Amino acid sequence: MSPFFYLLYVSSETHKMSISEIEEMASSAKKKNFKLDVTGLLIRKTKGFIQYLEGDKTTITELYEEILRDKRHHSLVVIDKGYTTHRKFAKWSMLLKYVTKEEIQAIEAIRNKSAKYRKKENWGNLEAVLEVIKNYQN
Ligand SMILES: Cc1cc2nc3c(=O)[nH]c(=O)nc-3n(C[C@H](O)[C@H](O)[C@H](O)COP(=O)(O)O)c2cc1C
Repeated sequence: MSPFFYLLYVSSETHKMSISEIEEMASSAKKKNFKLDVTGLLIRKTKGFIQYLEGDKTTITELYEEILRDKRHHSLVVIDKGYTTHRKFAKWSMLLKYVTKEEIQAIEAIRNKSAKYRKKENWGNLEAVLEVIKNYQN
């Protein structure tokens, strides 16, 4: 059996959160995730979030239930979940990204043009980000 469980969901913001509120939330999430050996990605999109969590199944399930009850967002929808042999965000307790559709298009345009960008150390990770966003942003 694959050792890691992952869960991807989207949600809507209850009130428009400021950058400092988001950074504060992400910073305490990072600390707690580190203790729980949870890694992942938190995308702030227009009026909501996309979050990808990976780790031990029971840990992720319990954490998601906690996140589900958080009043800062609502209408959570699990888009994908399952098992994986490798973490996509092994280096990140919770990588925070702010994205717009225009930004994604710009990043992809650079990537297609330049071999240099394809070789960047972090590219594997960014590619994972793009994969998640591309498939699930609406
Ligand atoms: C969009 C969103 C994403 C969140 N992501 C995480 C997370 O990855 N890890 C985490 O511990 N808390 C996360 N939280 C916060 C939890 O809902 C909850 O506030 C926190 O786990 C409470 O931790 P504590 O009671 O142990 O301090 C998130 C909240 C929101 C609104």
